[in-house]
Amino acid sequence: MSHRYNFVDPFLNASDFQAPAERVAVPSPYAAVPSKDEVDNLTHAVPLVIKRGSDSSVATLPIEGQGTIAVSTNAKAGLRIAVNTPDSSKPTLFLDVTTDHCGFSYGKDSVVLGSTPTPIPAVALKGIAACYLLPDQQTTYWLSVDRPNGVIRYGKYYLSTNLALLEATLKVKNDQGVMVWSDPKWNWLDDLKNVVVTQVGGDETKRKVAVQPLPLVNDLPPYIAPSDAVSMSDLETGVCTVVGNLPPECQRLYANVAGPNILLNTPDFPDFGAAIEHSVNTKGCLGYKLLEKKADEFGKKDFTGTYLRITIGRDMGDSPGIPYVLEIWPAGHYSPIHDHGDAFAVIKVLYGSIHVYYFDSLDPPGPQHIANPAVLKAGDITWLSSQQYQIHQLRNESPHGAVCCTLQCYQYGKDDSVHYEYFRYKSTDPKGEKKDFQPNSDMPFGEFKRAIAIEWEKYKSGQGP
Ligand SMILES: [Fe+2]
Repeated sequence: MSHRYNFVDPFLNASDFQAPAERVAVPSPYAAVPSKDEVDNLTHAVPLVIKRGSDSSVATLPIEGQGTIAVSTNAKAGLRIAVNTPDSSKPTLFLDVTTDHCGFSYGKDSVVLGSTPTPIPAVALKGIAACYLLPDQQTTYWLSVDRPNGVIRYGKYYLSTNLALLEATLKVKNDQGVMVWSDPKWNWLDDLKNVVVTQVGGDETKRKVAVQPLPLVNDLPPYIAPSDAVSMSDLETGVCTVVGNLPPECQRLYANVAGPNILLNTPDFPDFGAAIEHSVNTKGCLGYKLLEKKADEFGKKDFTGTYLRITIGRDMGDSPGIPYVLEIWPAGHYSPIHDHGDAFAVIKVLYGSIHVYYFDSLDPPGPQHIANPAVLKAGDITWLSSQQYQIHQLRNESPHGAVCCTLQCYQYGKDDSVHYEYFRYKSTDPKGEKKDFQPNSDMPFGEFKRAIAIEWEKYKSGQGP
């Protein structure tokens, strides 16, 4: 299982990064086409004069030979992430991303014009076109260097191995069961230290670079299991995780809602779930009426594209909207594809079952699925962070009118100074634009529960629908 640091917003502490002390000059590979005089004077012994895209961002890997570099940029034509070693006799690792090319390579720092770095064989996990630059579109591109396993990965959007696009595997297991470089020519990768980022076009003032000490190795699964339920097979296959592996924000949320008394059916109203199911499935009942009122909430009118948000408590300023929400999903209903304003969340299924689908981005060419859906039933708990499972869609695919009720709880990251108050969703309008949704309340929990109890009593006694 990978470390929780993988899931912290990589840009929150950008000011913490140290500038490297030596050997950082890696010229842009995308310099303007030089004049004939410039070509005649070209020597690879000195850095080239950069005509365009010369403004570099520099950082260091806190641990030599490994880490994850994230770059948020709206580059127009190209992006290069170069990582070199303090020893200038050793090569530099390059990730190049343009609108029609993407690849890992290595060569001398001064490789710019008149010379091509040596490609590093890699597999395009979702096709090479998926790797290309999205011109003018502020996007996060990341490079993960995993020294222990000898894997170099590139991906877009969130820092998640689910979103890896290009992968080079350069280590093999030797006879003693130790991972070693497949060829001694890769030994210099152990010493990678300095990071230099350059781009072509776009607004360089909007570029942000962040470095994390750990590579992206495995994603934690979406299922949280109690510690006393996890077996060694579970650890090996990674089908579930324990709460201790999650970011602190999720651990806090879990501690609030995982308890055995966080239930829908309680002694004071043991039929609450059945009563909700009746209410949302019956014309004229409270649940159905509330759903009808919001049929065009996310774009074109669509009754099945609705769910109820029954809020619990008040907005404490630490989450997008009220931190606890009982969400009610009639059979066949679904949410739009949405993110969570970069907040953290824990979701507990209280009644019925729900499918959760995960996506890469709300911007074109997304959203595209990044993993198999999680299927959660009553008692199951799942999570999401600012970097993992952030964009999802919930769908109640149960037959026969079976309602699902979930408890959502949200919290901003501890370093989040923006507190973006909205969820962003993919509109069901024909244009499918990305829009803001301010988390709202269809009714406070106490009021809803009392109204449903009265309605249920009337129904049971034959005096109401
Ligand atoms: Fe959600």
